[in-house]
Formats: sequence, C-alpha cells, structure tokens
Amino acid sequence: DLKDNTIIVVFGASGDLAKKKTLPALFGLYRQGFLPRDCKIVGYARTKMDREEFHKRATSYIKNSDNNPDLANSIEAFKESLTYVHGGYEDDESFEELNKHLEEIESHYQSKECNRIFYLALPPSVFIPVAKNTKLHCYVTKGGVNRIIIEKPFGKDLQSARELLGAVKQYWTEDETFRIDHYLGKEMVKNLLVLRFANIAMGAAWDKNSISNVQITFKEPFGTEGRGGYFDEFGIIRDVLQNHLLQVLSILTMERPVSFSAEDIRDEKVKVLRSIPPIERSDTLLGQYVSANGKPGYLDDETVPPNSVCPTFAATTLWINNPRWEGVPFILKAGKALNEAKVEVRIQFKDVTQGIFKDIARNELVIRIQPSEAVYLKLNTKTPGLYTRAIPTEMDLTYKRRFTEAKIPEAYEALILNALRGDHSNFVRHDELDVAWKIFTPILHWIDGLEGPRPRPVPYPYGSRGPKEMDAYTAKYGYKRATEAYIWPVTNM
Ligand code: BG6
Repeated sequence: DLKDNTIIVVFGASGDLAKKKTLPALFGLYRQGFLPRDCKIVGYARTKMDREEFHKRATSYIKNSDNNPDLANSIEAFKESLTYVHGGYEDDESFEELNKHLEEIESHYQSKECNRIFYLALPPSVFIPVAKNTKLHCYVTKGGVNRIIIEKPFGKDLQSARELLGAVKQYWTEDETFRIDHYLGKEMVKNLLVLRFANIAMGAAWDKNSISNVQITFKEPFGTEGRGGYFDEFGIIRDVLQNHLLQVLSILTMERPVSFSAEDIRDEKVKVLRSIPPIERSDTLLGQYVSANGKPGYLDDETVPPNSVCPTFAATTLWINNPRWEGVPFILKAGKALNEAKVEVRIQFKDVTQGIFKDIARNELVIRIQPSEAVYLKLNTKTPGLYTRAIPTEMDLTYKRRFTEAKIPEAYEALILNALRGDHSNFVRHDELDVAWKIFTPILHWIDGLEGPRPRPVPYPYGSRGPKEMDAYTAKYGYKRATEAYIWPVTNM
C-alpha cells in the first residue's frame, strides 16, 4: 500500500527530534528506495529560515564521514524534495498558508489523488491545536489518505492522557492516527514475536513453571544534559518505563495472537496489560544521580529546579495476574548517567533440582536490544576434560557475527515505513495507552507528591551501576547472580 503522490509534513522541523530522528529516517527510506515515488517533504516550524538553511539543518545529522560520493549525491537529490514553511501552531492563517503550499506541490502531480502524512515532532503543548488545524485546514478530501503521526508524551497520567487523546480523536480517527513508541520499531523488539512463537523450544519454557524472574533493563551513560527542563516535569518512569519498557513487557508476555494483523496483536497486548495491577510503592526503588568523577549531578543541570526530587533511575516490579505468569516478578528498570549504554531483557529460569548438582548456575535467556543486537542463552555444560564439572557457558546469536551483511534499520525508518503503508501493528492503540497509564498512575501521583510528601530518591554516582540498593532489590524478587563470575564474551563487539 505504498502511496504515490504523497506529501509528508514534518511539524517541529527545526526541533531536535526532527533533526536527529525524523528527517534522517526519511532520508534513510529515500536512499533505500522506500519512499513513495515523487514523495515531497515539507518542514514546518515557527522559526523563520530560507530553504537553504532548512536543507542544511535537515541533513546535519546524516552521516557521511568518509565522503562517499554516491551518498553525497543522494543527499543532494533528497534536498530537492524538501521545502520549508514557517508559521504558528495556533492560528488559522498559518495553516491556510501551509495548505496553499501543499496544493501548489500537488498541482504538479499527475493524478488527482493525494496523500498527506502529518508528523508531529512537537511538544505536547501544541499537539491539540495542530491536530485540530491540520484537520480543519489541511485535510485532503479529493481521494487519497490523511494520516497523523504523534509521539509521546501522551499526557502525564491517566486523566491527562484521556483528555489529550480524546481531543485528538475529535479530529482524527483511530485508523488515521499513528502513535509512536519508537521501541516498537527496534529490530530486536520486533524479533520477540518470532522468537517466542516460531520456536517450540521457547514456547515450552515460557511460563511460571520454568521462569523465576524477568528483568527489562534500560541504561544510558549520560545524564539529562540540557534536557533537564523537559525531563524534570516527567521523570524516568514517564520517559522510559511506562512506554518503552512496558511495550517490551507486553510483547514478551502476551498470548499468541491469532494472526500478525495489527488488531490481533494489539488485542493480545491489551489483554495481558489488563491483568497487571497498579504498581505498589513497596515494589519501587527510585534514584537520582549525583556528581562523580568530574561529571555533574542531576541537580547541577541548570535547567533543573534546585532541590528537585525527580527520579532519574527507577526500578519497579510488575505482576501479571493470569495463570501463565502468576507469581513471576517482572522488574522494569531504567536509569540515566549509568556506567554503560545497554537495553536488554534478561529471563532467569528456575534452579534445576539440586542433589547431583550443587550451586549450579541458572539458565538465563538474554535478549539484547541494543547496542550489538544479540540473543544468548546461558547454559551449563561439562568442562571438557577427564572429570565432570559443570560450567556456565552460552549459546550465542550475535547479529554482527551471524548476519554479517545485514543492515539493521533505524527504529524510525521502520515505523515511518509502516505508517506510509497504513500498518498499525507497531503503533500504540488508544486502549493500550489507557491501560498503560492505569498501571503507573498511582505511583506517579505518589512520586509527584499528590498523596503526601514526595518520596526522596536515593543518590547514585554518575557513571555507576545505579543505586547501591539495587542488588538487594533484585535479590528480593529472586534474581540470583551466578556464583562463578560469568561474562558474556561478546559484550564489546
Ligand atoms: C526517548 C527518551 O523516548 O528514548 C529519552 O525520551 C531516551 O530520554 C530515548 O534517551 C532512548 O532511545 P534510544 O533509541 O536511544 O534507546
């Protein structure tokens, strides 16, 4: 369903998200021949700038470090499809102007049918006026499709999310709306469906009988530098756990969908999410980074209010009340300013029956989402030699080694392509978001101080593994570190 005669309007085109993600992804699709024929891209923002200046900004994040002439040509050709319009987000005239610009482009198309995709790379304060104004002034009715792509934050709690989504729904139908959670565009997250449902061996062990605990971990080695203003209002739970990690959890734990169609998949995701009760305070560990080794603490960021108690690290444990998962703790944890960049799912299996073995390591299945995509299963094997001793080792599927020629797509490339094709499977459905907020709203209100004094996050040094309380926290839910030091050998590949 790739549409010819398509215009993609990028709102917030002078902002960070557009510059770093949206426009480079559009270029990536263009270069690989995935944009519709003769597709035009229109940047829109408040900033006044000429076309040349926009071209410079729009391509500033496209890397061509070894000056590949072929790539340089593609960049030049891509620029040809880019135009820029500046204007406000709230007034009718600006959108009338934009519409004129779009009609002028469309007047050169051969067929009458035109498609318009509106990508809102915008702060939430202007979501609603832009959703409204695009519908009122820029919606094409002469055949073709209109679609709107929006991105978090979708509100701050259940109530505000309902208000925001409800307001957008007044103008755009569910079918026309694509809510991005960019983790759903990541290769390894998409692989979860295949790993789980295309392997009988996985399916057999995928429940409370075999699995002791699951951790979904997000680590970033940098702080909020410069983004503190935004971050402080939201905190790590809204920034990463409630959306990205919960999405991973839902695919990891849902029942097998009837088909790969968007609604079948999303029905199953919603169903499992509905079995998760709101998170308890006692299942929560909050942290905030402090200055260490010459690196600034969170409170040293000038854009952060003094004495802020906003968590930059959080671990929360979720429980799923269904027969498959009853009693299995799912630990979601995320932190800024930690010792490494890593996102992974770690499924720890139960102990084998002791007796013939003593203190033998547990099996673990690790799905490394980034960097260096990999799936590895920690197994015990006999040490080679003339005696019988088990040691932990691994069965390892490291993508770079196994799929040497493969280019892993950027999440935003995959998602924009899905939106162009009208495929909602990797987008967040309205009711999915509603349940996601139900799970997190009570602890968020507690953290926000709406129910008494605000909890104080524990400090952790910039560049550390996280709060020192963390090991005891994961141990409380049954996670056992291997007694023998085991290091996955491909970590630094
Ligand atoms: C964003 C968060 O949604 O995801 C950021 O707002 C975070 O704080 C980012 O850094 C992480 O995305 P990725 O793709 O780099 O893992």
